[in-house]
Amino acid sequence: MSVPALAPFTTVLDLAAGALEPQRKLVERTLGDMQGIYAVPVPDQREREVVYRVSEVPTPLVEGNLLCSTTTIEPGTVDGEFHMTKGHFHAKLDRAEIYLTLAGEGRLVMATEAGEPAIEPMRRGTVNYVPGGWAHRSVNVGAGPLVFFAVFPADAGYDYKTIEEQGFPVLVVDRDGEPEILPNPRYRG
Ligand code: F6R
Ligand code: ZN
Repeated sequence: MSVPALAPFTTVLDLAAGALEPQRKLVERTLGDMQGIYAVPVPDQREREVVYRVSEVPTPLVEGNLLCSTTTIEPGTVDGEFHMTKGHFHAKLDRAEIYLTLAGEGRLVMATEAGEPAIEPMRRGTVNYVPGGWAHRSVNVGAGPLVFFAVFPADAGYDYKTIEEQGFPVLVVDRDGEPEILPNPRYRG
């Protein structure tokens, strides 16, 4: 019998705050990291603001393993465009993903390489299925933090470059406190 590569282990997810205990890997994204992603440039005085955090349970990045993480996006906008993640295709394009929302209100914006958009709701208890081939970005449209738990194949990888170059076909903007979906005039897909 071959020896399993990974020993079983347990992580505790704080269902209210999204924190993982023990916290093994934390990535913080500032608005400065998001320069060029929003429709307008991020003002200098906001560049150091942390807009979202990703806490991951790391495993070796090989086929057959799973990764999971929680993402917390702070509420707010950049010139009316709601706070959001960078968004990505998976580097292995066909890899799917599950998002379970724990707190807040959001929109999961997705798009195919051909530019077909899809928008799904995110709120406590929603389980969003992101099929392979769809770029995905989460947008916080609520007044408090948007917190969600994600599970995905460990070999999925990240293709951020395509989104940095092309954007998403739609934007989610604040229209009198309500989210409005608009075509993205800068989309280059
Ligand atoms: C992993 C995944 C999420 C995101 C996280 C941050 O495949 O989709 O865990 O990585 O929500 O978003 P990005 O990676 O777009 O900055
Ligand atoms: Zn993903």
